[in-house]
Amino acid sequence: AAAGEGAAPQLKHDIAKVGVVGTGTMASGIVQVFAQAGYEVVYVGRGQDKLDGVVGYITKNLDRAIAKGKGTEGDKDALLGRLTGSTEREALGGVDIVVEAIAEDLELKLELFRDLDRICKPGAILATTTSSLPITKLGEATGRPQDVIGMHFFNPAPVMKLVEIITTSATSADVDETVRALTANVGKVGVSAGDRAGFIVNLLLFPYLNDAIKLAEGGEELATIDAAIKETAGFPMGPFELLDVVGNDVSLAIQKELYAEFGEPGFEPAATLVAKVEAGELGRKTGKGFHDYS
Ligand code: 3HC
Repeated sequence: AAAGEGAAPQLKHDIAKVGVVGTGTMASGIVQVFAQAGYEVVYVGRGQDKLDGVVGYITKNLDRAIAKGKGTEGDKDALLGRLTGSTEREALGGVDIVVEAIAEDLELKLELFRDLDRICKPGAILATTTSSLPITKLGEATGRPQDVIGMHFFNPAPVMKLVEIITTSATSADVDETVRALTANVGKVGVSAGDRAGFIVNLLLFPYLNDAIKLAEGGEELATIDAAIKETAGFPMGPFELLDVVGNDVSLAIQKELYAEFGEPGFEPAATLVAKVEAGELGRKTGKGFHDYS
């Protein structure tokens, strides 16, 4: 059941086949989550190399689990057998729900939602894992805003338990309940959040990460800040370790949205965050971010 809510939610729509759009870190993790829970997953990316990257990400995670004695080669083959990659969005015509996890860019997402509206079968749920863009606008880009909802996973998606579920004033109660039931079915904990930039977690988390960068700009050592937070607050990672997991490009996009929506002077993206993105130092995924992974 979703945290803080009443009776266990029920699936009001049959969900057998899940579509995922995107091939980045979040998309790859989300594909893994659904396939691990037994769903057939159709995932769509912009090239065969990107599709292969998703399989590579999942294979690496499963190999690590197998090496720890969790799961077998047979489980891995069965899971990978539930995946179908495609470079064509038309492949999503038969899925019961789509979760999109493409770049955090409103124009790209609006264009995608117009396509999903054209391609997906009637009644399919159109979910987004945007972390800061208005879901109401994505719904309005379709002729079926009642089927549009936010399903915000956290990185790394196979590990992090929380999913924020964001309805708009147009989202139907059945779609909301189905997504809450689906979230529980894939082993996650759902919380309902309002359609504001950052929802709950990112609205609290990213200003803190941004402040950590500003603290470092003032001369404090990155490693000292990371260690201080880990030692006192019980966080598994310090702010710079976490920024490198999330990706500086993603963090900058989120911080810009928070600044645009709330206008708090302190929300202005730290200069070093902007500079890291310009330098292509995006975090673990490029081998270097605030820390070096080479
Ligand atoms: N994919 C899949 N599994 C992973 C993984 C990954 N990328 N990274 C780690 N794991 C698994 C490991 O295999 C291990 O599994 P096991 O317990 O079954 O053996 C487990 O996670 C723990 O991993 P480790 O022991 O290697 O390392 P840690 O104990 O340091 O855990 C961590 C790694 C789970 C990433 C932990 O450091 C953590 O929780 N960090 C904070 C992450 C966080 O706060 N994320 C939210 C970011 S905000 C966000 O995502 C917003 C979005 O909008 C961008």
